[in-house]
Amino acid sequence: MPRRCSRKVLLSLLAAAFTCLLLLLLPDQGQGQAGHRGLELRSRSLQSWESPWPEEEGVVAGAPEPAARSFREYFSELSRARGSGRRLLEPELPATPQPFRDDISAGDLFIAVKTTKKFHRARLELLLETWISRSREQTYIFTDGEDEELKSKAAGHVVNTNCSAAHSRQALSCKMAVEYDKFIESGKKWFCHVDDDNYVNTRALVKLLAQYPHTQDIYIGKPSLDRPIEATERISDNKVRPVHFWFATGGAGFCISRGLALKMSPWASGGHFINTAEKIRLPDDCTIGYIIEAILGVKLIRSNLFHSHLENLQQVMRGDISNQVTLSYGTFENKRNAINLKGGFSIEQDPSRFRSIHCLLYPDTPWCPRNVTY
Ligand SMILES: *[C@@H]1O[C@H](CO)[C@@H](O)[C@H](O)[C@H]1NC(C)=O
Repeated sequence: MPRRCSRKVLLSLLAAAFTCLLLLLLPDQGQGQAGHRGLELRSRSLQSWESPWPEEEGVVAGAPEPAARSFREYFSELSRARGSGRRLLEPELPATPQPFRDDISAGDLFIAVKTTKKFHRARLELLLETWISRSREQTYIFTDGEDEELKSKAAGHVVNTNCSAAHSRQALSCKMAVEYDKFIESGKKWFCHVDDDNYVNTRALVKLLAQYPHTQDIYIGKPSLDRPIEATERISDNKVRPVHFWFATGGAGFCISRGLALKMSPWASGGHFINTAEKIRLPDDCTIGYIIEAILGVKLIRSNLFHSHLENLQQVMRGDISNQVTLSYGTFENKRNAINLKGGFSIEQDPSRFRSIHCLLYPDTPWCPRNVTY
């Protein structure tokens, strides 16, 4: 054995003996967690103290500096460990359970309305005259064709996604991908997606979302099915596996907190959303559910305050209308489907009932008839 090496061995033996002595002489660190922490730190500092030896091949053997430095580090770490142990033992303030309230306003929302050029006149004008007129700043219309008139009416809040106008899976995913990217860009606290046949009651929406922290993982909406959707996930070119998850139906609208949206980024940002949708071959709203429930393991929070035209809207009671977050109109089981509300407009004047709803919620609107019973 070369001399250098044997001297190293002797030194490490001495050092080890000294450590054992030190550990024996150390005062008891106390009970429970703090004691455990102390032990953990002790063994960790031992490791870091021992490890320099094999790496110091080039260092002149027998030089006392490394050992001395390690001892100093060792002592300071020990005292730090003991310090933190004491802090852990300090009594914490008792947690008082209180209903959560996030101090948000309409300005913290990003409401994306999905439409297509064909419906700019037939559907968007009604929305611009009614609920969007009260939520202009936070509402963005996502469409697939240029329309200067729409742009001026919507105060520039129109995004031409350049996606296909077809009602295909790819075209819908393409729009959702742009909505997602624009929301992330906006810096807002909540992303809410609705269709162009939805009435959004912004006051009720803010009230609902204020119950949840936007920094946490929140996905809220109404499932369109009474069971989780079953899909097959393509994991490679010739391999698939079944997945089950809940999703909020896009036709009723849904919201996602910023905290959760940021986590979705690897599957939703840039071109990723379209790839993810292709992987399960399902529409845009299902893909959102897939990313959130199946990939990220976050559960959908069900809310009955969201409504699509695929449910019987006559069941929403007159007294409950002002509490609903979204409403809709259309056809359901081959019959006209709309909210049952009298108001100042006939069915011919207001087949969707959106004008009547708007006048119920905002009676000071100039075009609302006065002295009307609802
Ligand atoms: C759509 O295309 C126009 C013109 O090329 C472009 O200015 C715009 O940024 C595109 N929109 C999106 C969302 O990429």
